[in-house]
Amino acid sequence: MNKDFFCEVVSRQMLNEDTALIEFSCEQIASVAVPGQFVNITCSNFLRRPFGIASVNKQTGTFKVGIKIVGEGTEELASLDEGEGTWILGPLGNGFELSSDKYILVGGGSGVFPVNFLYEDLVSKDKSVKVVQGFRDKSQVIMNNPDYILTTDAGDEGIKGNCCDGLDTLSEDDIKDATILCVGPMPMMKAVSSWADGHGLDCYVSLEQRMACGIGVCLVCVCKIKAQEEGIPFDHKRCCKDGPVFDAKEVIW
Ligand SMILES: Cc1cc2nc3c(=O)[nH]c(=O)nc-3n(C[C@H](O)[C@H](O)[C@H](O)COP(=O)(O)OP(=O)(O)OC[C@H]3O[C@@H](n4cnc5c(N)ncnc54)[C@H](O)[C@@H]3O)c2cc1C
Ligand code: FES
Repeated sequence: MNKDFFCEVVSRQMLNEDTALIEFSCEQIASVAVPGQFVNITCSNFLRRPFGIASVNKQTGTFKVGIKIVGEGTEELASLDEGEGTWILGPLGNGFELSSDKYILVGGGSGVFPVNFLYEDLVSKDKSVKVVQGFRDKSQVIMNNPDYILTTDAGDEGIKGNCCDGLDTLSEDDIKDATILCVGPMPMMKAVSSWADGHGLDCYVSLEQRMACGIGVCLVCVCKIKAQEEGIPFDHKRCCKDGPVFDAKEVIW
């Protein structure tokens, strides 16, 4: 199936000085995307750039991605204006498995975008959801919601500390039988995975490897995952095609 679509920008909002939230029009992507999936967006550089889907609106046939400027590709894409467009491949990868009734979502860095999609989806399905988001300091806080538990390393907004300090503020009732879904920088996901383990909770994480094709062909995004078979220390998995969502227990941190 051809999954490459020319998508027009219908809105663009700067969330802070280096991060834009861009809404693209594409009924084909908006109608089938699930939380945890990503899109691979064409820019003038050689390779496309991958971004987690931050929100979808099936009625308007639009979806959003958050783009933090870290280099040339993101600088170009974050400045796409209303009426401009680009080729987008997606939705790609496996989303989160969402059959439980109770979730704790944890987001940090650009992980706050897929966490937003998860939150909107789970709330629309009347699931129990708590959200913890962690940032370096107040200037980095984006995609926040008064219902979320907010942490900053600097302590200039929300709870002083990291996401695990935020998780520690949850009640026993909040934690009991919950599944943790976490998207963010590797050290944060490692710490949250260990927190989940310590509390006997299932935890799923979304890995962010450098990517090229995004569809399982080039092997640029290969990561090591614990092998199912005895005697083999690890398997190689393609983050884009076999993930990006993995059971935290399988990840070799
Ligand atoms: C599945 C997936 C989902 C992502 N979702 C988002 C998102 O929702 N919002 C967002 O802003 N970014 C997201 N990213 C990261 C984004 O793809 C990169 O920031 C972007 O490709 C960088 O392009 P560039 O040309 O601006 O920077 P480059 O010039 O290519 O690199 C600039 C810097 O960013 C680092 N970098 C580049 N790609 C990655 C990567 N994949 N992971 C970690 N560091 C990287 C490089 O090491 C370098 O230090 C995601 C990445 C993946 C794999
Ligand atoms: S990016 Fe090409 S195989 Fe994953």
